[in-house]
Amino acid sequence: MVLFVVFEEEIIMCGVVGYIGKNKALPVLLNGLSKLEYRGYDSAGIALLDHNEMIVKKRKGRLAGLEKELIVDDYDAFIGIGHTRWATHGAPNEVNAHPHTNQVNSIAVIHNGIIENYLKIKEWLQEVSEITFKSETDSEVIAHLISYYYDGDLMDAVYKAVDRMEGAYAISVISKDEPDKIIAVRKDSPLIVGIGEGEQFLASDIPALLKYTRKVHFIENDEFVLLTKDKIEIFDAFRQPVEREVFEVTWDAESAEKEGYQHFTLKEIHEQPKSFKETLSRRIDKDFNIHLEGVDFTDEEFRAFDKIYIVACGTAYHAGLLGKYAIEKFAKVPVEVEIASEFRYKDSFINEKSLFIAVSQSGETLDTLQSLREAKRKGAKILSIVNVVGSSVSRDSDGVLYTWAGPEIGVASTKAYTSQALVLYLLAIKLGMIYEQLSNVQVKELIDELYNMPAYIERVLEQSHRVQEFADSQFNNESVFFMGRGVDLYSAYEASLKFKEISYVNSFAIAAGELKHGTIALIEDETLVVALATQQHLYEKMLSNIVEVKARGAYVVAVAMEGDDEILKTADEVIFIPKTMECLAPLLSVIPMQLFAYYVSVAKGNDVDKPRNLAKSVTVE
Ligand code: AGP
Repeated sequence: MVLFVVFEEEIIMCGVVGYIGKNKALPVLLNGLSKLEYRGYDSAGIALLDHNEMIVKKRKGRLAGLEKELIVDDYDAFIGIGHTRWATHGAPNEVNAHPHTNQVNSIAVIHNGIIENYLKIKEWLQEVSEITFKSETDSEVIAHLISYYYDGDLMDAVYKAVDRMEGAYAISVISKDEPDKIIAVRKDSPLIVGIGEGEQFLASDIPALLKYTRKVHFIENDEFVLLTKDKIEIFDAFRQPVEREVFEVTWDAESAEKEGYQHFTLKEIHEQPKSFKETLSRRIDKDFNIHLEGVDFTDEEFRAFDKIYIVACGTAYHAGLLGKYAIEKFAKVPVEVEIASEFRYKDSFINEKSLFIAVSQSGETLDTLQSLREAKRKGAKILSIVNVVGSSVSRDSDGVLYTWAGPEIGVASTKAYTSQALVLYLLAIKLGMIYEQLSNVQVKELIDELYNMPAYIERVLEQSHRVQEFADSQFNNESVFFMGRGVDLYSAYEASLKFKEISYVNSFAIAAGELKHGTIALIEDETLVVALATQQHLYEKMLSNIVEVKARGAYVVAVAMEGDDEILKTADEVIFIPKTMECLAPLLSVIPMQLFAYYVSVAKGNDVDKPRNLAKSVTVE
């Protein structure tokens, strides 16, 4: 069965917030939405109940546009909901923006997800009642459907409406007739509620709530929530109350702020020494033991796997490639790495003797999630490497290794990528020990060097100004080629993706040895080529490839290890990374590339944190 069909008018990825309590709702909603814009920013809207009047305001474009038009003191509302939208097809306009209301404007609804059978519901509603639909969206039917079933009990109406809906949703509802409550429901789209004193909150993600509370409940699939000023109640699909533990958020509100950096992306690039330290200190003890906290497979269970699959999308997929390299090198176990959108539709050989590793920053990427479910159906054990605690991927897994990189707000993944790679390296070393392929001395050497990484990354970051100057001189380039051999190729893939998504530069990543099989035809005078040359055993070959492109007029920037004087004679520019073990070099070589893409993006005046056409978590296939 196809779970998600892309409709013309579909709203696919959005942020939702809600507030009820002792304070004015509007500032809380606007603050919350500002933290969720990474989820979408085509339009923004709020609904407030102000002295029993339903006020709905929405604007096309960024939240700032809506904010400009709202004077906080004009509203005396203590309950409200808000939405920020990301649309692929159909107009991202004011009419399609959320909240949506019923015919008489008494019920307002916000929705993140897709109602697959909305056309059927729409036709049916038009038959049984006289409804004029205002928007092209699937979400509007929710407001009308709830209204149709409303008979003095909002929760009952929401249950009945949801019963008819197929698809994915995090929905929040307020009604003029029951102004003392917000009702919310979740299926396959993230929803959390925040616990306050005399006030309660809901949101798609934690940063939206951090200014107000650190105590949250994660809402599970098919659960309904009733928020009143004084309490939060959760119910299952059969209307039975559910007990849910309180999750205490430990990271600071500042982690979700820019702290003086011009962009979140730059801040997150600079946070990499910190995120490395965090990941290492939580997983390695003073005796060099690696702890896979969150995964309770025994060594025997690990040894019983005859194959490992790593499945992910985009940047997480590139981290997966590094994982394959490290696991095969350290543990000598065969690993397949698959792009999740491909894995889902493949007749893969995965079975009960396989270990399936899902890698995902958000833990909400639909392709990854559905691949995971497919693997589970075929009997594989599921281990996930995830950054967002409590996300869907982590909940559906048999074991979870959190990356502990802290919130990543910039749409382009930077610190989450290196943390994913680091966790995969740690897992690989652990498997190397379990499979008895690594000696204690080798393990100690690797771990010692991993402990040096935060200081090495600091040294790479100290070169930011040089990278910026270079980016300023190169930002007009229409294309850039990244080439590498061996594990350098994976950094090349990731560098190229960064250039596409934030710098809007036509970028290509290629195995240097493949150039002569076609791509070299594209190299001409002044073509910018970035050569990753950290692998000593492939060094001579790489130098030849640099010479080959230079002979065709290319301008070559090399990324090499300190002490490599030879490269200075061949490349036009060299960015040095600290000398480290070859196998660990990708943890460093990608960092100047992140900076390069960032500064080109800034020089071009792009919206670095929220690049065009993208969103942070991709919850459709
Ligand atoms: C990374 O810069 C991209 N924004 C994107 O490729 C991302 O890595 C991909 O969508 C997977 O996201 P996830 O890690 O949240 O699953």
